[in-house]
Amino acid sequence: MKKIIFATGNEGKMKEIRDILSDLDVKVLSMKEAGINVDIVEDGTTFEENAIIKAKTICELCGEITLADDSGLEIDYLNKEPGVYSARYMGEDTSYRIKNANLIERLEGVPDEKRTARFVCAVAAAFPGGSVKTVRETMEGCIGYEEKGENGFGYDPIFFLPEYGCTSAELSMEEKNKISHRGKALRAIKDELK
Ligand code: IMP
Repeated sequence: MKKIIFATGNEGKMKEIRDILSDLDVKVLSMKEAGINVDIVEDGTTFEENAIIKAKTICELCGEITLADDSGLEIDYLNKEPGVYSARYMGEDTSYRIKNANLIERLEGVPDEKRTARFVCAVAAAFPGGSVKTVRETMEGCIGYEEKGENGFGYDPIFFLPEYGCTSAELSMEEKNKISHRGKALRAIKDELK
């Protein structure tokens, strides 16, 4: 059976990618399962660049097809901040309670129509031999006025989905995976692997 490595240490992401690729005849391994332990500096300026850096580095180390993702939140009114710095915004160790409160504060007085935002996810597939493919998908919404919902993680409690009338932290994991930037991007990269 063919092997594919997914360059992440995040178990939630592993579960999602295994589920999405379950109909392909491949075994999906995490970096840990592939015996790889490296710190990769994500110094790209776009989601695609960071995903490519991760996928290529691991592919070169293990010689197998490697997937990697990079994601974040873009808020239009804040010139697409926090963007590629979403995890590092206000410091990696700062709680999302504080980060979310700060973003809501920065949008104080900003009307509904200017609160548009999106979650972005780029996924890169690096192939032995050097070629790379990338896909990018988004989930569109806007920034709410307070945190709502207990599911999800990160910026989900402030990410309001007008079509659903709730935040992404109020969706179940299954509901979110169907419409999320990451769910869509992982399903799109699958077409590139076939
Ligand atoms: P990474 O791609 O795993 O490095 O994620 C980057 C950061 O973007 C996360 O740490 C979160 O701050 C944010 N982010 C990405 N996707 C989501 C999401 O689905 N919900 C909430 N926050 C997200």
